[in-house]
Amino acid sequence: MLQRVIVFGNQKGGTGKSTLAMHLTVSLLHQGYKVATIDVDAKQGTFTRYIENRIKTSQSDPKIKYPTHRSIFESFSDSVRVKHKENFLKFSELINSLKDFDFIVIDTPGSETDLSKIAHSFADVIITPLNESFIDLDLIIKASPVKSGLNTGSYAEMVWEQKKARAQRDKNSVDWIILLNRMSSVESRNKKELEKILILLSKRLGFRFIKGFKERIIFKELFLSGLTLLDGNTTRTGLNLSHIAARQELKNLLKELNVA
Ligand SMILES: Nc1ncnc2c1ncn2[C@@H]1O[C@H](COP(=O)(O)OP(=O)(O)OP(=O)(O)O)[C@@H](O)[C@H]1O
Ligand SMILES: [Mg+2]
Repeated sequence: MLQRVIVFGNQKGGTGKSTLAMHLTVSLLHQGYKVATIDVDAKQGTFTRYIENRIKTSQSDPKIKYPTHRSIFESFSDSVRVKHKENFLKFSELINSLKDFDFIVIDTPGSETDLSKIAHSFADVIITPLNESFIDLDLIIKASPVKSGLNTGSYAEMVWEQKKARAQRDKNSVDWIILLNRMSSVESRNKKELEKILILLSKRLGFRFIKGFKERIIFKELFLSGLTLLDGNTTRTGLNLSHIAARQELKNLLKELNVA
């Protein structure tokens, strides 16, 4: 099959990039795909630590599958041009070395770095989780309560630039997906407004707005064991309705990626 590179990105911290990158990785492994992962946010290293924890847990349960993982650090050069050149070379070589994998899942930092931009330019799919807040939306679109008219937000600008870079390099297009993560269980006016704006903007900015994930304690509990919702025996209390609903949310994401 043709390899697909999936990048989780958003210049806003804490929206669930690493958590969802891990869950998607394990979903793909469960489906029998060969999956490699890259941590572009290697300084923070959440994705790397999550996978390391999973590898440790797998030592007592060989049924637990884990991906081939790589971390990549920014070049230390002071010159912007040299730094970009070095980063680009390093990243291209890394992607090349992983060409036998069906999927490469990449986690990026919640800030704009040169490496993160380069990673976005290699994406076949970009997945942007947003929290249910207008602060998060501001990076996609700058909506003003007083003036009519909207300006593209800084992350959307960056995605646009990297889509262009990708098209120039190999003429391939990018599937940009936005979803809400950590949604509250109650239907709020805020959420409805956000959804309305995102649906309206999707055509103009060239993304797909798909169903997301609710706020669920289970997502916070799994990091230390390196497990995900898809692994059996993830909780002491066993599967409850919330976990089943969360698996359904994950299945929906796979369906949107045409892998379910
Ligand atoms: N659906 C969810 N329900 C509950 N908690 C969640 C959910 N998704 C993520 N979290 C929690 O939110 C926090 C931020 O998640 P995560 O580290 O994945 O975000 P991030 O976008 O990678 O952050 P950063 O930009 O700092 O790398 C973590 O404590 C994580 O456990
Ligand atoms: Mg992260």
